[in-house]
Amino acid sequence: DGLNTRAVAAGKAYFGSATDNGELTDTAYAAGLNNTADFGQITPGNSMKWDSIEPSRGVFSYAKGDVIANLAKANGQKLRCHTLVWHSQLPSWVSNGNFDNATLIEIMTNHITNEVSHFKGQCYHWDVVNEALNEDGTFRESVFYKTVGPAYIPLAFAAAAAADPAAKLYYNDYNIESAGLKSTGAQNIVKLVQQYGAHIDGVGMQAHFIVGSTPSQAAQEANMKAFVDLGMEVAITELDIRATTPISDADVAKQVVDYGNTVRACKAVERCVGVTIWDWTDKYSWIPSVFSGQGSALPWDGDLKKKDAVYSAILSAW
Ligand code: XIL
Repeated sequence: DGLNTRAVAAGKAYFGSATDNGELTDTAYAAGLNNTADFGQITPGNSMKWDSIEPSRGVFSYAKGDVIANLAKANGQKLRCHTLVWHSQLPSWVSNGNFDNATLIEIMTNHITNEVSHFKGQCYHWDVVNEALNEDGTFRESVFYKTVGPAYIPLAFAAAAAADPAAKLYYNDYNIESAGLKSTGAQNIVKLVQQYGAHIDGVGMQAHFIVGSTPSQAAQEANMKAFVDLGMEVAITELDIRATTPISDADVAKQVVDYGNTVRACKAVERCVGVTIWDWTDKYSWIPSVFSGQGSALPWDGDLKKKDAVYSAILSAW
């Protein structure tokens, strides 16, 4: 019995975790990740991003991505492939290339076609476009938006669909987990892709939450349903719930409630297909390096020890 077996018993496709190549040499870590009772799905934290895959124009390097894809295959885990078009971890030859509209479209579609074809048949989901929105729901001024306009998004989905018709294609973002301008913006992206006649299957709620200000179960459910009403499936794709460190007992109590609410929201929405935590141990969480003074965001501590209260909150929420 574990987080994944419970999710599957609740009718979901998986409970999973992000991981990264450098972590896999840690044998105790690898044993935990490979435990399919807890993790039926994995996401590469970095090794399928543009800077890793196509560091210079037309030069594709798949070794690290293949390690994660092959691990999923060996373990019988689903693979969420992440991510094709994103303003961050984008090599400077793209962001500073000063390409014209037609050339950047060609560069973007070539990147997508090459990468999606390489992993064809292995990706349960593809995060096709990541974080295209500002907090107010307007389009982020990425090189793609500035050069191509909003059409870059449906063009990206069309290229991905052509290269692997079996992969489910997702738009993925943060701060779209409850109603608001940014969630409305994400719903508008779904409509935009549909209006172009391109294919989109789902929307990923990253869910990088903060202890005590995680949206309620009801708010998350209502928000997911707004996407479902547009014909989408949804997934919680990068869940972690950070606290000021060292975490207080009061914050642990809040975190237990927040994890439970998030998992219960996914359980309650039929088309929420699964929940992924953004790695499973504080030892390899991205939080302390980006949000200084914060951490303790995951269900296992920095010594790979299960936090019983957090773990059982997730388990019983399923
Ligand atoms: C993070 C990784 O976990 C870090 O290792 C890396 O340094 C930066 O990116 N939203 C996303 C993820 O979609 O790709 C990010 O992952 C976290 C925020």
